[in-house]
Amino acid sequence: MLVLGIETSCDETAAAVLKDGRELLSNIIADQTAVHSRYGGVVPELAGRVHIENIRRVIEQALAEAGVGIGDIGLIAVTRGPGLMSSLLVGLNVAKGMAYAGKIPLIGVNHLEGHLLAIFLQEQVEFPYVSLGISGGHTELYRVDDFVAYTLLGRTRDDAAGESFDKVARMLNLGYPGGPLIERLAQEGDTGAHRFPRPLLEPGSLDFSFSGLKTAVRQKIESNDGSLSDADIAACFQDAVIDVLVRKMFAACEREGIRHAVLTGGVAANGALRRQMEAEGTRRGVQVYSPKPVFCTDNAAMIACAGYHRYMRESRLGADPLSLDASATLPIPAS
Ligand code: KG4
Ligand code: ZN
Repeated sequence: MLVLGIETSCDETAAAVLKDGRELLSNIIADQTAVHSRYGGVVPELAGRVHIENIRRVIEQALAEAGVGIGDIGLIAVTRGPGLMSSLLVGLNVAKGMAYAGKIPLIGVNHLEGHLLAIFLQEQVEFPYVSLGISGGHTELYRVDDFVAYTLLGRTRDDAAGESFDKVARMLNLGYPGGPLIERLAQEGDTGAHRFPRPLLEPGSLDFSFSGLKTAVRQKIESNDGSLSDADIAACFQDAVIDVLVRKMFAACEREGIRHAVLTGGVAANGALRRQMEAEGTRRGVQVYSPKPVFCTDNAAMIACAGYHRYMRESRLGADPLSLDASATLPIPAS
């Protein structure tokens, strides 16, 4: 079964061809960073327009690189939310058109479900596992019992982890997206130069809060007498975020009695985070899985993977109708 995945929820126009849920034949991503960076963040109207310009070429390239034609595709899996409405509609409408014209089954995929399953693009993980999804819009801990069985354990009450990286990068005039820029600058800084607060919330809670940390960084930048370099601030901020993420991840594993932990989402591309998660996992006897950075950030391969598994599990229900709608705030599907 060949699945064509299509992803346009934010600022990446992406298409991929996946065979039997695990063999990736192509994975094309047209990144829009150059368009949005001068505005310091994604401009929804521009993102939609650039998706329209890129989508056809991206899909054609995904099919060509996989060495297949549209007639070989057995299922089209497309992101239907959550995300920016004007971006989602581009991918969804193209997918519907192709499904209708080619008489190909269509399945709408939750973008977050794609992130939760991205690890299966490179290796098999034993169920159950705890997944920490950390991106620009989300910071969520899930218990994953099966391909379509997810239980939310904790989430951010304010900013997402990636959003805090982007905001601190803006405070330091580094540019957008902030995560990779902070990571690079932090390599030259001293994590011992200052201690930012670790917002852990009340004992036992698996929720997150990053807005207080962001405010503490702003205050430190304003009151800095020159004793801290920008690199020190980046290093100390990143260290505080990582510390919180590591502690919550393993608190969740301990509470659920689970020995498999999976990272996902754009922030999971952070090398320092991956190293600390893996070191703590070794110490606690928990196996930590980190998808390759290209599977952490937005891509269509993970959408094809999630669509494949949902379609296989729900084949009794069949494909989605062509009246399928986009949803900016689509919740993760209940199991
Ligand atoms: O999953 P993603 O590509 O898109 C969303 O669905 O949001 O995540 C993007 C987020 C951005 O906030 C970006 O700054 C952050 O992931 N990010 C990173 C790194 N690479 C991307 N954060 C920290 N370190 C990185 N290396
Ligand atoms: Zn994402």
